[in-house]
Amino acid sequence: MKILVLGDIVGRPGRNFLTRHLIDFKERENINFCVANGENAAGGAGLTAKTADEIRKAGVDAITLGDHVWDQKNFENEINHLEYVCRPANLPTSNPGRDRLKVEVNGLNVGIFTVMGRSFMGPKVDCPFATADRLISEMSKDVGILICEIHAETTSEKEAIGWHLDGRTNLVFGTHTHVPTADGRLLPKGTAYQTDLGMTGPRESVLGRNIEACVGRFLDGMPRKCPVAESDIGMQGCVVEIDSDKSLGTISHKRIELREDEV
Ligand SMILES: [Fe+2]
Ligand SMILES: [Fe+2]
Repeated sequence: MKILVLGDIVGRPGRNFLTRHLIDFKERENINFCVANGENAAGGAGLTAKTADEIRKAGVDAITLGDHVWDQKNFENEINHLEYVCRPANLPTSNPGRDRLKVEVNGLNVGIFTVMGRSFMGPKVDCPFATADRLISEMSKDVGILICEIHAETTSEKEAIGWHLDGRTNLVFGTHTHVPTADGRLLPKGTAYQTDLGMTGPRESVLGRNIEACVGRFLDGMPRKCPVAESDIGMQGCVVEIDSDKSLGTISHKRIELREDEV
């Protein structure tokens, strides 16, 4: 089983890139299942039912979210209808949306959930470590493959989650910072881990946003709109291979990147 996981999809450039290239990439690499974070997919902040559908049709099988989950107006009324979308599991239980996904792939159940970090992050959330422990114990008997996303600002919190879950999930991957890290590997007890996958969007940018506007904010501190950037578009993430006949059974982790000028 080969699973492709992609970093935060940023705006229309990110969505269009997936529509143009993802299905070909999946075929070429024999990918069985694709997960992507969609928290920046609609106008750079949040998700809508329409953009989720577009991403799904482009070839993403499951969409996760992060701190921007409720940025788009009315999404709280749409999320429950989207059976392939989950919101961070450690948000207050009163929040709408699924806190986990279970998807059958080639006769095997794949479980996915996201926990959000608590350092330098906006939303007030439950402990990501305790939430991950609870979800793993609830989901383990029901799924053959388990994937955890840590959506967080600090590398330390992400690494700590990776070590805490080593041997208990097939993959722990980080998102939110939009810049890929070079530490992807299998941890000693067999969990694949990468601190941040990067993003699916425009790299000639500051984290996907217009350079001039973002630099200006730092220079004079004045508020201004930072629209989604438009150049040097690509997708970043990783591919993990899993032998589903073995317990845990993660065989390999490979960081991937595909850019417009390479295809
Ligand atoms: Fe993001
Ligand atoms: Fe985020």
